[in-house]
Amino acid sequence: MSFPDMRLRRLRRTPALRKMLDIAPPPPSKFVWPLFLVEGKQRCEPIDSMPGQFRYSVDQLLKALEPVAEQGIGGVLLFGQTEGEKDAAGSGAYDDGGVVQLAIPAIKRAFPGLVVMTDVCLCAYTEHGHCGPLTRDGSSVDNDIAIELLAKVAVSHAGAGADVVAPSAMMDGQVLAIRDALADEDLHDTLLMSYSTKFASAMYGPFRDAENSAPSAGDRKGYQASYSNLRAALRESELDEDEGADILMVKPTLFYLDVLSKLRECTDLPVAAYNVSGEYSMLVATAERGWGDLNDMARESLMAMERAGADLLLSYWAPRYNEIFAT
Ligand code: PBG
Ligand code: ZN
Repeated sequence: MSFPDMRLRRLRRTPALRKMLDIAPPPPSKFVWPLFLVEGKQRCEPIDSMPGQFRYSVDQLLKALEPVAEQGIGGVLLFGQTEGEKDAAGSGAYDDGGVVQLAIPAIKRAFPGLVVMTDVCLCAYTEHGHCGPLTRDGSSVDNDIAIELLAKVAVSHAGAGADVVAPSAMMDGQVLAIRDALADEDLHDTLLMSYSTKFASAMYGPFRDAENSAPSAGDRKGYQASYSNLRAALRESELDEDEGADILMVKPTLFYLDVLSKLRECTDLPVAAYNVSGEYSMLVATAERGWGDLNDMARESLMAMERAGADLLLSYWAPRYNEIFAT
């Protein structure tokens, strides 16, 4: 059959038909809100490069989490930083008295139903802003020392009660090092979500502003994956699965939907999509100029991630879930 008998517009004639035939939006339980912690009290500081997002002290975060938990958002992903001394090894990241380590039990106590995830990296704590200590000549990150330090960070977070530790440094062997270190501490229930296929992307700019974690010299292309080499990027995820990751990830998301759907086909592990800062802020900036409706653009982009097969959505839109998906 063909036109004029066959008419595809029948399938989308009314809102009720469209609603019946469309796939459902991802439920709030699949969303994780990435957020920024700072030391001290009574702090809720707007992030210039990410309008609508804030740096929170723990007490203020607990307030901000009330409407988030109310909407049924699945969890949070914590990023810490320090205003104290940064050093060559980023030792603030594995200080048991650090802001992430203090926030974990406070969140767990107030919101036992939220999954608490932590970013495991060193870049917000190293004096040079790289994701691990530098080699003697300063020309690159020392991989094998970095993974020992990352394992210390993960153990410190898991010991404080994190449900999920999420290494983001793109060091070789980091998943194995963390899995072994957790096992040595009898932390067998801590989930390990690897930022497994993480690209060297220009879309992390707003985040580095929020985290004060931009490298002072050089870039991250020597450790983060190249967006022009798909097979190498997929191998990163395969290897992390072999090393013992429980959850894999593609990051960023919107320019990488092909990678997400491919990875979804070649693993049985859950695959998370990290909808990064630049993807958030470009929509906010467009809306601020009057060039698009913010909720409509956010919804369209989130449905793209759902279609591509994301099992888990790490997104700064999480706190706006009800507004975005209100119909
Ligand atoms: C740290 C880290 C980064 C992001 C998550 N963890 C920045 C980077 O790799 O430079 C980016 C998140 C975002 O842009 O929202 N390793
Ligand atoms: Zn890092």
